[in-house]
Amino acid sequence: MPEELAVNGGPKTRDTSVNPWPTIADASGRDFGEEELELLRQVIESGSLGYMYGSMVTQFEEEFAARHGAKHACAVSSGTAALHTAMGALQLEVGDEVITSPVTDMGSIIAIVQCNCVPVFADVEAETMLLDAQSIRERITDRTRALMIVHLLGQPCNMDEIMAVVEEHGLYLVEDCAQSHDATWDGKPVGTFGHFGCFSLQQSKQITTGDGGIVITDDDDLADEAYRFHDKYYDRSGQNRPVERIGMNYRMSELVGAVALAQVRKLDRIIDRRTQTAEALMAGIDDIPGINRATVHPKARHTWWRVACTIDEGELGCDAQTFTRAVVAEGLPLRAGAARGEPICMLPVFQDYAAYGSGDFPWEPPYGRKVEYRREDYPNTNWAMQNVWTASWNEGYTLADVDDILHGLRKISEWYRRGR
Ligand SMILES: Cc1ncc(COP(=O)(O)O)c(C=O)c1O
Repeated sequence: MPEELAVNGGPKTRDTSVNPWPTIADASGRDFGEEELELLRQVIESGSLGYMYGSMVTQFEEEFAARHGAKHACAVSSGTAALHTAMGALQLEVGDEVITSPVTDMGSIIAIVQCNCVPVFADVEAETMLLDAQSIRERITDRTRALMIVHLLGQPCNMDEIMAVVEEHGLYLVEDCAQSHDATWDGKPVGTFGHFGCFSLQQSKQITTGDGGIVITDDDDLADEAYRFHDKYYDRSGQNRPVERIGMNYRMSELVGAVALAQVRKLDRIIDRRTQTAEALMAGIDDIPGINRATVHPKARHTWWRVACTIDEGELGCDAQTFTRAVVAEGLPLRAGAARGEPICMLPVFQDYAAYGSGDFPWEPPYGRKVEYRREDYPNTNWAMQNVWTASWNEGYTLADVDDILHGLRKISEWYRRGR
């Protein structure tokens, strides 16, 4: 903690032991109420808790698909399950390469490796941390079959550039929309550009059931594969086809479906609230020297899973570490570094090729390629990990909370600029 700020700057901006920030961890930052309770009551009273016997999961799928203008939706048990279901439905070959982002959650990569495919990581754009189309192009080999893009923090990837790569190389496209419910690119919802859009309903997401997920697609055959993959490859369509492949049990229960249905009906108001406060925060940051809002592309609709900003060390008069300490000392809900402090492929599981048993499958020849995962291959990711500050956002934030955050940031900026 920078003692100068606490001493000379007076009391900290916010004593969070007295006045905590609203959080996604409890009701202070979540929108649950009578709507969820009423649908849960209906499920309990019906006595049908499995999706095959009730109607909540089906209704949720229909309404989620409709609001995305998608033909099919398949509700599952997590965002990871959604991605695995999408990848499983594509039926790629062992050792096929799938290019994805080094700034993501393990769920994206689990889905690739659990399909016996080799994850290849492209670099991101520095400030948005969204996949960089040129870097994707550079990592394409004759084994590349699919692209799993990650719409990060509530912001869509540049879909003009991504679709150009997909079309040039005839790749499958899976969109990881776990963090970006309702985001759009040029007015088109994320999840509707590729073969599959995959969403998470985990506790921190814009809408949540604690855990849950959903997959959307317009392709009838892929939808059929996805439905079967998520439910042990059983055929629930009435055609009575035998089990022909291995699937999972990623079914969503009716209890979860009830909450999911109530939540999707609230998505507009949740995004409106997040947008109002997040945009007020960004507008305020515009007036604070040395602190910059993170870039949002003009064609993007950001739906604010997290808010992000960067600092200009020269202008601010302090380095990143000092800024981090000041933010903590002021009690602000900002966190340095985008995710884990380094590209996800630097984790031991990838450095050691440790997916299954003691061998290096699926990376080892003759199955796949022993892709080298080197920190220096991700210069923009490394920069972002040091320079982008993010704060978990939620619908509980008020304009008064935003004022407090801006007050703290202004105080930090004034303090260090004075000392330059
Ligand atoms: C980008 C991304 N992909 C995938 C996932 C996996 O979702 P879940 O935790 O619901 O399995 C997450 C969840 O945090 C995520 O942020």
